[in-house]
Amino acid sequence: MVDRDTSGGDKSFSVDVPQKTEGYFLKGAQHLDWGMKDRLSRIFNPASGRTLMLAFDHGYIMGPTSGLERMDLSIVPLVEHVDCLMCTRGALRTCIPPTYNKPLVMRCSTGATILKELSDEVIGVSVEEAIRLNASALTTQVYIGGEHERATLDNLAHLINEGMRYGVPTLGVTAVGRDMVRDSRYLGLATRVIAELGAHFVKTYYCEPGFDEVVAGCPIPIVIAGGKKLPELEALQMAYKAIDQGALGVDMGRNIFLADDPVAMVQAVRTVVHKFEKPEKAFQMYNDLKK
Ligand code: R5P
Repeated sequence: MVDRDTSGGDKSFSVDVPQKTEGYFLKGAQHLDWGMKDRLSRIFNPASGRTLMLAFDHGYIMGPTSGLERMDLSIVPLVEHVDCLMCTRGALRTCIPPTYNKPLVMRCSTGATILKELSDEVIGVSVEEAIRLNASALTTQVYIGGEHERATLDNLAHLINEGMRYGVPTLGVTAVGRDMVRDSRYLGLATRVIAELGAHFVKTYYCEPGFDEVVAGCPIPIVIAGGKKLPELEALQMAYKAIDQGALGVDMGRNIFLADDPVAMVQAVRTVVHKFEKPEKAFQMYNDLKK
């Protein structure tokens, strides 16, 4: 159709300026669609390329475990200091004010508790429900080598397929069964399988030696879980070493919410993740902030 613009002003096509074709900062995500990249950019800070995720989904298998008895009291004060939340829909709806506007990685698996076989899980949250809660990503865990290995891989594939329909990325979590060793051989296998199935980022444990090889062999971003509670300095050292060897963030729970001062600890971990601060300096910061 003929242009009916009658304003009379000159148009500016800047014909001598080529349109920019920008790359994308996140490992393995260059060829994803816009919605996926938008959601991943909410989880991973585009300035540092990393993320500080707060994991408090433990109650879905453990009930009111230490530190999470009252999530309204223990978790809410931490929210402003993190980039992203990882929790169940129940925790989110009941305890987290929507006014914080934090991206959410939604725990979608169910079917097991600590009273029975942990790997016997199914998917209990639909992608529509996750989108209704404005989730930025979906997650489930896989038990490579575990009793229900096949079912947990099927759960992951299901989430990836459903998420792809709507542009929602999936985080694959490496759960380590009782008989497995958290070494680089096992974690390298587990993280690579998760990436090959099409997950968009993966959560695993830090290990020594060989974490750098786990990262190199995994074509998507790795974030580390904190694992059992450590003295604060040791937790900061672990986070530092993981970042130094290529992790793109942490998804930490107990080492934050069970710290002597969780609000101080979350800020100390943040400075390691985003500023690559030395652990001793971050520990000094923790002590300075500690009430
Ligand atoms: C376990 O139930 C969850 O996947 C946790 O989110 C995960 O273990 C991270 O929490 P933590 O840092 O306490 O290990």
